[in-house]
Amino acid sequence: MTILLSLFLLVVLFSVHAANFHKGLRGLSCVNDYVNNISCTWESSAATPHADCWIFGEQSTWIGQILGVKEKIIRSCKLKQHINFTRGCSLVFENKKFNSYNTMPFIRVECNGTMMENIKNYKPVQHIKMHPPGVPNVSSTANETSISWRPGSLPSMLLKTLSFQTQIKQKHQTWNEGNILSTKERELSIPAGKLKGHCEVRVRVKPILDKNLNSHWSNWSPTTSWTNKVETSQNRERLLSPTQLIIFGVILGVILGLITVTVFLYRSCVSRGLLKVKPLPNPSKYFHTLHSLVFKPTPSDKLTLTENFS
Ligand SMILES: *[C@@H]1O[C@H](CO)[C@@H](O)[C@H](O)[C@H]1NC(C)=O
Ligand SMILES: *[C@@H]1O[C@H](CO)[C@@H](O)[C@H](O)[C@H]1NC(C)=O
Ligand SMILES: *[C@@H]1O[C@H](CO)[C@@H](O)[C@H](O)[C@H]1NC(C)=O
Ligand SMILES: *[C@@H]1O[C@H](CO)[C@@H](O)[C@H](O)[C@H]1NC(C)=O
Ligand SMILES: *[C@@H]1O[C@H](CO)[C@@H](O)[C@H](O)[C@H]1NC(C)=O
Repeated sequence: MTILLSLFLLVVLFSVHAANFHKGLRGLSCVNDYVNNISCTWESSAATPHADCWIFGEQSTWIGQILGVKEKIIRSCKLKQHINFTRGCSLVFENKKFNSYNTMPFIRVECNGTMMENIKNYKPVQHIKMHPPGVPNVSSTANETSISWRPGSLPSMLLKTLSFQTQIKQKHQTWNEGNILSTKERELSIPAGKLKGHCEVRVRVKPILDKNLNSHWSNWSPTTSWTNKVETSQNRERLLSPTQLIIFGVILGVILGLITVTVFLYRSCVSRGLLKVKPLPNPSKYFHTLHSLVFKPTPSDKLTLTENFS
């Protein structure tokens, strides 16, 4: 039983480790903007950091379909090392726009002239990741905050429907705590009062494709931060709200009334002499009696005392 259990644990631990390993080092993966730019990363420990690694990609298009003539274009880029095992670079096919029929015969990594990894028949339409939108533009009025944005770079004409996500948070929050709002428009209006204080917003985009095709979210756009002036004007509004104004007025009225009545009663009493102040008894009288109580021996007292003792 114990052996079985430890064996089971060992298997679990091993598979977790293996999963992490695969997650950590994904090998060659490429996304594209569906215009002409393919960005590849290569996560691998197979080559030393000093190795001279390149990515090569081939595009072929029919230039004379009837004659069966294909034009081959090969582009390459040098992989740049990041801090971890990741390296990346972009293949750009100028004057060639991707479409749904494109299939690239290969995209491969070569280090020191040796092929390390190869992707065959890469279809750009299956790996779209657009460029992030530009810096969001925020304008606030007393009624609403409107956020608008533009594409970071001209998107492919073939991408008809775009889906956007805006993420809004307060300055002191982390992005994980931010709210995500989705829209298909390039702007968003939020009623005043929903957002308070110092806020930050960023936007990302992804195309909605037909059939069962998936796409990646773009990276997040740069962040715009702004302060809602709404809050203070709202507070002022709240102070002046009719109900509170009435309650405040009633309380003030009652207090003033009480003060008036008290003053009036006091005045009338004084004028009728009811509250005439009794003169205080002269304190010197009391002091006199006190005085007499203090024992002061006089020669006659002494005399009497001696007489009594003897
Ligand atoms: C390596 O770093 C890059 C950015 O420098 C990051 O995008 C990637 O996710 C990191 N990969 C791993 C396995 O940490
Ligand atoms: C290609 O895409 C990458 C990643 O989005 C970007 O950094 C690079 O500037 C782009 N290159 C061109 C020529 O548009
Ligand atoms: C590639 O060459 C560099 C030196 O030019 C060497 O340090 C490295 O180990 C080589 N890498 C591979 C994978 O052969
Ligand atoms: C930002 O939005 C406001 C209002 O919609 C507009 O007047 C202004 O031109 C925009 N600014 C930029 C840089 O797009
Ligand atoms: C704000 O809303 C009020 C009514 O709710 C409307 O009369 C006013 O025109 C709005 N102001 C702006 C700047 O949209």
